[in-house]
Amino acid sequence: MVQVGVVYHSISGSCKALAEAVAEGVNNEPGCKGITLVIEGKDIHQGRFDNPALMTHLDQCEAVVLGSPTFMGAVSAQFKAFMDAASERYSNRSWLDKLAAGFTVGGNSSGDQLGTIRTLQIFAAQMGMLWVPIDILPSQDPKGRNRSGCQSGLVTVAESAGGIHELDRLTASHLGNRVAHLASRISRL
Ligand SMILES: Cc1cc2nc3c(=O)[nH]c(=O)nc-3n(C[C@H](O)[C@H](O)[C@H](O)COP(=O)(O)O)c2cc1C
Repeated sequence: MVQVGVVYHSISGSCKALAEAVAEGVNNEPGCKGITLVIEGKDIHQGRFDNPALMTHLDQCEAVVLGSPTFMGAVSAQFKAFMDAASERYSNRSWLDKLAAGFTVGGNSSGDQLGTIRTLQIFAAQMGMLWVPIDILPSQDPKGRNRSGCQSGLVTVAESAGGIHELDRLTASHLGNRVAHLASRISRL
């Protein structure tokens, strides 16, 4: 079984809904299992994220999809604390060659969400992971997915408190399926 971790932070629920859609897309790929893992403020003590079980879960995944709301043009403080807690894995190279992808949600259509995706991309590069971009061509998808047009990662806008647009949900599911499909191919090499 190819495991794909979907690690995310969410306060009002939009990022959680996206994470669940990504995991659903993973589960639609035969032989793959999506595991959602939530970053919570209660696991941060004096600024340090401490949840060994969550980190061990990610160690066991072939791929990791990273999701954070956009707060002040970047990842949330809670998600950054998780990223900093991965520094031991950075040093021992234990996530090397895992696939990675990312998604974010903001309250505005151009609310600097790309800053969040860039941060996630750079984090993946530091960890030696392989970034999977979105392959849906903006404006050319018959279903209208990837409506933001971002290729580096999934950029979305919250519909209401905790809500996501149906086309963003479909794009998230597609991204999860794409990552799972690629991870599955690599595992068979
Ligand atoms: C402290 C804070 C900063 C925010 N900064 C941005 C921002 O820079 N750009 C943006 O588009 N939305 C911003 N928002 C809106 C959130 O991204 C939006 O409410 C999103 O839905 C939160 O995700 P969640 O529903 O998973 O908690 C901000 C919200 C908060 C609370």
